[in-house]
Amino acid sequence: MHNPSTFHGLRHTHLTYSTRSFYYLSGADFADCAVTYDIARDNLILWIPYTDPRQALWFGKTPSPEECKSRTSVSDVRYIIELPRYLRRYLSSRSASSGSSTTTVYILHPSQPPPHPEFLGSRGILQIDTVSLQPAMDAARVIKSTWEIAAIRRANAVSSAAHRAVLTRLKKMTNEREIEALFRGYCIAVGAKKTAYGTIAGAGPNAATLHYDANNEPLAGRQLVVLDAGAEWSCYASDVTRTLPIGGKFTKEGKAIYSVVEKMQESCIRAIRPGFQFVWLHVHAMTIAVSELLKLGILKGSAKEILAAGTGAAFFPHGLGHHVGLEVHDVSGRERLMVGAGVRVKARGGGLGKREMFSPEMMAGLYRAGMVDGRGEGRAKLEKGMVVTVEPGM
Ligand code: GLY
Ligand code: MN
Repeated sequence: MHNPSTFHGLRHTHLTYSTRSFYYLSGADFADCAVTYDIARDNLILWIPYTDPRQALWFGKTPSPEECKSRTSVSDVRYIIELPRYLRRYLSSRSASSGSSTTTVYILHPSQPPPHPEFLGSRGILQIDTVSLQPAMDAARVIKSTWEIAAIRRANAVSSAAHRAVLTRLKKMTNEREIEALFRGYCIAVGAKKTAYGTIAGAGPNAATLHYDANNEPLAGRQLVVLDAGAEWSCYASDVTRTLPIGGKFTKEGKAIYSVVEKMQESCIRAIRPGFQFVWLHVHAMTIAVSELLKLGILKGSAKEILAAGTGAAFFPHGLGHHVGLEVHDVSGRERLMVGAGVRVKARGGGLGKREMFSPEMMAGLYRAGMVDGRGEGRAKLEKGMVVTVEPGM
């Protein structure tokens, strides 16, 4: 008989983007730990490695149980060597109290089973579920706590200051790589040792490559540079994108396009609130883009017809934004922000995960689906505590 589980387990070898849930539960950001949560007893235990003094001589100490306890809000911190015994005791107490022969342990990844399963009792006692925990974790992670919002704000403050530092030096720079170096150097110097994703510093035509990361071309002869770069603070991401005039002044044309994007952004930021369907904000941004491009004479015809044809996607092909949290493209919870309205483009590296892209046909479909008034049902709605980017572009 199946025994409803009261126990969740996760294991952590190093803090890659896929194991951010480990940090979410445990507050530990070093390797070779595990975390267990016994829901019935509300007992969250962080299991940490013991560092041999010879290891410590070369690589330094890992935090002690006392240090971990003082830094996190877990119920207890123990050495990981004791974990198999804890699990064995847990399993036998579960089967004794429920009279059932099977107990389910929920884990996040099939590649991270509990240690020494052969030690955990005879076959049939332990059932490992590798699919149910992930959606539950994502649903929890998508609504941010006050502490998490403070960490994201701190990351944003560092990024904003680093962007300003770039701006003050830009006229003296000669190559994209100097922009990346200054941005990253500034973040490191103020304590944000990692960026949330690979820095994008694209000048001239490179600015049109959404995830350009070569950052090694000259600035001479180019008008604008896009700096899309964000620091990380306590493992929480920020994501800030700005277009800067390389010579210090916008040309008339550069300013005109900059102002269109600024208008899209400010209008969406004014409109955003809990209960809104994010995908509607995307359509709203597109509506502004089309009307402004008509005013500039770049598009010709009727705004309604252009929107219905989806032509705007040729200028603004990416989704308006995404969740931000422990990952820069953070988990979506039960429903994706853009609800699969576009195609998901896979990441090539650098920490930037998938983003939603729109072909003109898809944009036209979205427009036709009646999203313009924001009342269409079945679309993901924003909730209090979610943190999302608003990043239109052209
Ligand atoms: N800011 C880059 C991205 O979200 O893909
Ligand atoms: Mn982004």
